[in-house]
Amino acid sequence: MTGPDGATGGRARVFSGMQPSGAVHLGNLLGALTSWVALQDEADCVYSVVDLHAITAPDEHDPALLQQRTLDLAAVLFGVGVDPARSTLFVQSHVREHAELAWLFNCVATFGELGRMPQFKEKAAGRDASVSVGLFDYPVLQTADILLYHATKVPVGEDQRHHIELARDIGQRFNHRFGDVFTLPTAILPPVAARVMDLQDPTRKMSKSSGTVKGVVHVLDDADTVAAKFRSAVTDSDGEVRIDRAGKPGVTNLLEILAAVSGRSVEAVADEHAGSGYGALKSAVAEAVVAFLAPMRARSLELAEDPAELQRLLAAGADRAREVAAPTLDRARAAMGLLPPA
Ligand code: TYM
Repeated sequence: MTGPDGATGGRARVFSGMQPSGAVHLGNLLGALTSWVALQDEADCVYSVVDLHAITAPDEHDPALLQQRTLDLAAVLFGVGVDPARSTLFVQSHVREHAELAWLFNCVATFGELGRMPQFKEKAAGRDASVSVGLFDYPVLQTADILLYHATKVPVGEDQRHHIELARDIGQRFNHRFGDVFTLPTAILPPVAARVMDLQDPTRKMSKSSGTVKGVVHVLDDADTVAAKFRSAVTDSDGEVRIDRAGKPGVTNLLEILAAVSGRSVEAVADEHAGSGYGALKSAVAEAVVAFLAPMRARSLELAEDPAELQRLLAAGADRAREVAAPTLDRARAAMGLLPPA
């Protein structure tokens, strides 16, 4: 990475992150990681295992597991196709600029806008007084992640749309008050499967922390497990295969998953299966997902066996990330009037 904002040869900068808070699932893969991998062909990509975000929810944070989960996630990210020769992958807490810029942004973000974030409201529902300040502040740290790298594109699933809009708002407010330091980002959502639903409860999104046991398909699940989960997917009783997200969430979710893993439009997939029964549709989805996951699973498991190599790649990634993050933070500090160290 070279140039004042670290951009290489005029290529767009991409940033995204994933929490090491549990096994990577099909929602993470189709909502975000497929775009992470594809964008490497056209942009300068910076990706992070966001461990500081993973400690914001006490019920999901187990200190005894976090280091292992961080390495496991790195193995899966490389395993699904993040290429260390073309992209930068690092652990968020290894680049201290993230936490420091988040503090500066804390003085720009407002209590009101953070309180309105849908994800916060969902997670804090009914227990406002006992949630951590970190959970409340989560989107500010996410803003720092993105803006440190002057990212213009942020590939994420649909549930992150509000967080990216907030990052724009905070960046814009900072620039307005203190001068032009930050580039404003835009969310990149996949054309299908931007919100993959739980197979057992298709009115809820597939989730690392609050999903059902059989409703969440993991990237590292073996073929039999994947097939069994799709076989028992909840559908409906009308028997007709068609797209109707509100009326037929289970069937529509299966069609979207099939479209995403086969690189086709959801309409084409729905037409092809219009005359099929649900059993045949489930088998077709299971087969396509198993084939899609197989090489990623094999590569991830192989990489997980060499933690020293993973640590080496992550350390090199953090060095490259710091080269961009440090000058950005210096500019933000100067713009806010902080005295530089002599
Ligand atoms: P995380 O780890 O919760 O989710 C990682 C990515 O997976 C997407 N995702 C889904 N997409 C479709 N269907 C689903 N059921 C589904 N579940 C999860 C999420 O949208 C996300 O893209 N806050 C971020 C982490 C983060 C970040 C950032 C992202 C921290 N800093 C900076 C972008 C830029 C998150 O939700 O992680």
